Amino acid sequence: LRRSSVDQNIRQQGSFSRRVADTLQQAWSEHNPGGAVVRRDLIADPLPADAWATGAAVRGLPAEQRTAEQAAASALAASLAGEVLGASTVVVATALYNFGITLHRKNWIDLLILDPRFSPGSTPLAGRPLTLVVARGGGYGPGTPREGWDHATPYLRRIFGEVFGADVTLVEAELTLAGSVPAMADLRGVAAESLAKAHELAAVTGKAHAALVGASV
Ligand SMILES: Cc1cc2nc3c(=O)[nH]c(=O)nc-3n(C[C@H](O)[C@H](O)[C@H](O)COP(=O)(O)O)c2cc1C
Repeated sequence: LRRSSVDQNIRQQGSFSRRVADTLQQAWSEHNPGGAVVRRDLIADPLPADAWATGAAVRGLPAEQRTAEQAAASALAASLAGEVLGASTVVVATALYNFGITLHRKNWIDLLILDPRFSPGSTPLAGRPLTLVVARGGGYGPGTPREGWDHATPYLRRIFGEVFGADVTLVEAELTLAGSVPAMADLRGVAAESLAKAHELAAVTGKAHAALVGASV
C-alpha cells in the first residue's frame, strides 16, 4: 500500500504546491492508515544531469557490453521506474518556472522513459491514479493575455496521461504571486479562491485514492 510523491520546487518553505501535495498526502494517510509514503524531492536531491544521455546512447546494447557508467545510468532509470511502478497512487507536485518545466523534472521523466517498462507505447501506469499539483505565479486562463503560455501543464498531462496512461487529476493553484507582488494586489481574492479550491480538491482526491487502494487489495 504505497503512495509516491515527486516534488520539484526550488523552495521548501512557503511553497504552495508542496502544501497542496501535503493536504493530499494527509487525506490519503488518514484514510489509509499504515500505507507507506515515498517522497522524492528532485530539487533537494537532484538526479545526475548526465545519466540520461549516457544511458540513452546505449539503449538496446547488451548489459555485458556496457561500461560501468552506462550500467549505472540504466540502473538509475530502473530504480526510478520501479519506485513509480511500486506505488498505488502517484502525486507530482510542480511549479511553473519560466513558462515551462525545469531540467529536474525533464531529467526525471526522461530517465523513466529510458527504462524499457516506460517505453512509449507501453502505458505502464494504465488506469493508475496520478495527481498533478501545479502552482503558477500568474494566471493563464481562457481570455487572459498569457493564455497558452503555460507550457508545463499540457506537457505533463500528455506524458502522464497519454504516454504513461495514468488516470490524471489536475490540481491547480493560480496567481500565487498575488500575495507578494504589489501590482497583483487586485488579484488576491481570486488567488485565495484558487488556492482554497486546490486544497479542497487535493483532500477529496487523497481520500478517493485511499479508497481505491482499499478496493484493490
Ligand atoms: C525563477 C522563477 C521563475 C518563475 N516563472 C514563472 C512563470 O513563468 N510563470 C508563472 O506564472 N510563475 C512563475 N514563477 C512563479 C512561481 O510559479 C510561483 O511562485 C509558484 O507558486 C512557485 O511554486 P511553489 O509555491 O510551490 O514554490 C516563477 C518563479 C520563479 C522563482
